[in-house]
Amino acid sequence: MRIAILGTGTFATALATGWTRAGHDVNIGGRSPQRAAAAAEASGAHYGPLPDIVKDADAVLLSVRWEGIADILTAVGAPDGSLTGKPLIDPTNAVDHGIGVLRTDPGRAIAQRVAELAPGAHVVKALHLFPSTRWTAPTSPPVTVPICGDDPAPLQTVSSLIRDIGGTPVVFGGLDRARQLEEVAGFVITLAFAGINPQLAIPAV
Ligand SMILES: NC(=O)c1ccc[n+]([C@@H]2O[C@H](COP(=O)([O-])OP(=O)(O)OC[C@H]3O[C@@H](n4cnc5c(N)ncnc54)[C@H](OP(=O)(O)O)[C@@H]3O)[C@@H](O)[C@H]2O)c1
Repeated sequence: MRIAILGTGTFATALATGWTRAGHDVNIGGRSPQRAAAAAEASGAHYGPLPDIVKDADAVLLSVRWEGIADILTAVGAPDGSLTGKPLIDPTNAVDHGIGVLRTDPGRAIAQRVAELAPGAHVVKALHLFPSTRWTAPTSPPVTVPICGDDPAPLQTVSSLIRDIGGTPVVFGGLDRARQLEEVAGFVITLAFAGINPQLAIPAV
């Protein structure tokens, strides 16, 4: 697949590495061409100007800090429909670093805000729960990756991309359940930064 990655940081580089290794054609773009070039070099991917890299993409990964979502989606023309029909993977955590409290309005998911900013795109909440290193060093057995989205075909596309980097996807529900998945990340982040293994806080059922 042709995958466009919006963002040039840690997560973008890790996912570009994983998908490039799996044989996909990955194109990275961000507000700094220099950082896009560095991320591409580190991951074996390509880089290009922001509006261009989404044009032929079969899937798009949104990989910026949550405060930058509107800026980067605007930079690729998403509010004007440039991502119409494309799977748009949202792994963002709208939390203060190290605290875990969601910064979205009560009952609202950042994934729903992403959908508003990218009309016509098929937003899939995914990959927000595990650290980026998981996708460059997969485990055996594979980790389970719950995902949310409203359309079967993009969910299948994203599921396939998750398997390619060593995860087992599970469809958790529609985008109306993304808030619940985002709260789980907040729960994990809160415990992890308190020095507690979150896995020990979940019953083995
Ligand atoms: N790292 C992880 O393990 C992990 C795991 C799960 C989910 N995530 C999520 O993945 C996303 C990226 O995380 P990261 O770890 O890669 O963070 P990072 O290394 O700090 O990189 C952040 C990226 O966001 C961009 N950015 C910030 N504000 C922007 C704006 N206003 N306009 C355009 N770009 C902007 C930065 O661009 P500049 O370089 O130009 O500042 C950079 O490319 C976050 O939403 C995070 O919650 C990360």
